[in-house]
Amino acid sequence: MSQHTILLLQKTKDKKSRTYMDCNNVSLMIDQVINLYEVKLKESNINRREINYTASDLLNYIDNVGDLACMVLDVNSGTYIPHDREWIKQMNHTGDLMEGISLNIIVAKTAKNGIGLNNILPWKIKRDMKLFKSLTTSNNKHQGDSDFQNIVIMGRNTWDSIPNKFKPLKDRLNIVLSRNTAFQQLVPPKVQVFQSLEASLNFIKKKSFQNKNIWIIGGSQIYKEVLELNITKKIFLTHIYNEVECNTYIDLKLDKFRLIKDAEEIGIVLKNYFLDGEEQDEFKFNHVFEEDGYKFEFLLFNRD
Ligand SMILES: NC(=O)c1ccc[n+]([C@@H]2O[C@H](COP(=O)([O-])OP(=O)(O)OC[C@H]3O[C@@H](n4cnc5c(N)ncnc54)[C@H](OP(=O)(O)O)[C@@H]3O)[C@@H](O)[C@H]2O)c1
Repeated sequence: MSQHTILLLQKTKDKKSRTYMDCNNVSLMIDQVINLYEVKLKESNINRREINYTASDLLNYIDNVGDLACMVLDVNSGTYIPHDREWIKQMNHTGDLMEGISLNIIVAKTAKNGIGLNNILPWKIKRDMKLFKSLTTSNNKHQGDSDFQNIVIMGRNTWDSIPNKFKPLKDRLNIVLSRNTAFQQLVPPKVQVFQSLEASLNFIKKKSFQNKNIWIIGGSQIYKEVLELNITKKIFLTHIYNEVECNTYIDLKLDKFRLIKDAEEIGIVLKNYFLDGEEQDEFKFNHVFEEDGYKFEFLLFNRD
């Protein structure tokens, strides 16, 4: 997904409306298509503050635009491979898969974007671990019903990095991504292993897990893949101010996200995750905590 891509577009039937757009990769090309649709929606709904649409509305727009195609650079041959409208629609399909499902990223990182060292967490911050546990188990803890059990999706390295006594992560459906087809045999029976992110999302969709929250819990490869698709609703970020030695990083571009600064708005979001009263005080957002020499702050980003 990191090949240079040229989007070829004819907005209307009039050939004069032909244009092209340079995009750094396929995912940004998809962003452009989404932007075009959102601009069109805004233009035809000038007086409305909020405009909602579904994935199928977007696919419908792609069907009806004058003409649409793209050229994707094949890094091996150095040539551009043409793709048609149907291919572009397929690339959007993952968004469709996620309709009705809430997907969140949760990550702790340093100012230099470090998240790991030699396949372990480079720090031990109890308050951060507690927030991780509270958020990712919140649903079933408060509903007392396994139908509401949350889902955590992680890469195989992250699974390996969790000490045996803590895994599978309790009261959560653990999904591990590995391309190794034999890996399912190496994990406890209740843990689900998938060979691709898309396969795991398909499973979630088929099982109608709409009642649950899905947490992407790392590591860097999985964050990267998820962030390249435009399917993340919220990012719960623990920003660590200390310089800590790391050799695994997250490339976190937040330009599509809004940092929630308003305490009341944060309170409402946390309440949705069943964190209220004392817990909200304990995990105060936009506030610098100190613990065992670490300075850190919880931040919440939303894709509006
Ligand atoms: N600070 C934080 O919040 C945080 C959170 C989580 C993890 N971490 C840290 O991050 C580090 C681990 O991150 P990482 O990037 O090395 O590994 P990772 O993302 O946890 O796992 C990578 C592995 O996942 C599998 N994988 C990746 N993409 C896949 C795909 N599309 N389909 C199927 N399988 C796929 C592959 O497993 P196979 O090789 O088996 O095919 C790959 O080797 C550790 O140091 C950990 O402590 C930090």
